[in-house]
Amino acid sequence: MNAQPNVEVCLSPQLLHLYPLQNRVVVIVDVLRATSTIITALAHEVAGIIPVAKLEQCEAYKRLGFITAAERDGKKAEGFDLGNSPFSYMAEELKGKTIVFTTTNGTEAISKSSSASLILIGGFLNITALSKFLIEKNQDTLLLCAAWKGKPNIEDTLFTGALLHKLLPHFSSSTDDNLLALSLYQQSMLNKWELIQKSSHVKRLQGLGIERDIEFCLSEDLYPVVPYFNGEALVI
Ligand code: MLT
Repeated sequence: MNAQPNVEVCLSPQLLHLYPLQNRVVVIVDVLRATSTIITALAHEVAGIIPVAKLEQCEAYKRLGFITAAERDGKKAEGFDLGNSPFSYMAEELKGKTIVFTTTNGTEAISKSSSASLILIGGFLNITALSKFLIEKNQDTLLLCAAWKGKPNIEDTLFTGALLHKLLPHFSSSTDDNLLALSLYQQSMLNKWELIQKSSHVKRLQGLGIERDIEFCLSEDLYPVVPYFNGEALVI
């Protein structure tokens, strides 16, 4: 009987140096809103999302004629075509297009994971399809929370707990990070919304009048797609 693959949670990209990425699948988690937006865009037939960590990289692509999307601190950055609301990526005219995309935390987490054997995109929107993919893949896996400017957050940690709950019969797991995420998930089973309302980013988005994105990004299994990085772009 083969040993089970291992799954671990990394609560912030600031801790990523503690986790070897070679021969590991990395799932990027940025529930509010980068990975939810990426899942939504690709499910609505956007051809590909090119993630870049810096605004300057996005500006360079814009000069080359690409469609560009940039968000900083929850707001659409000036001078780009799109921000980071999943609702902006459902438009008919984006079908078949490639979009260059940068956000406050999510795209930085992606760029820091380049040595992983496979980078996947996860959120509540694709949680079951993602769990089935990971179980089938049967490889050591790291669930990387994009967090907020290096500090762990509730929504990404909660998601990793919910995903762990689906994975654990098929994966070995022993770290305290995993236990923290699982405990948060078990606590939230009573009332996910009550817990999420305490998130600093939820308060930030509510302050920007972006409530509808929050509810949408917390919906489970709207899109049975598992975006992966093909070396150039995120695709399905
Ligand atoms: C992030 O990158 O942390 C988020 O996507 C920020 C946001 O769009 O609200």
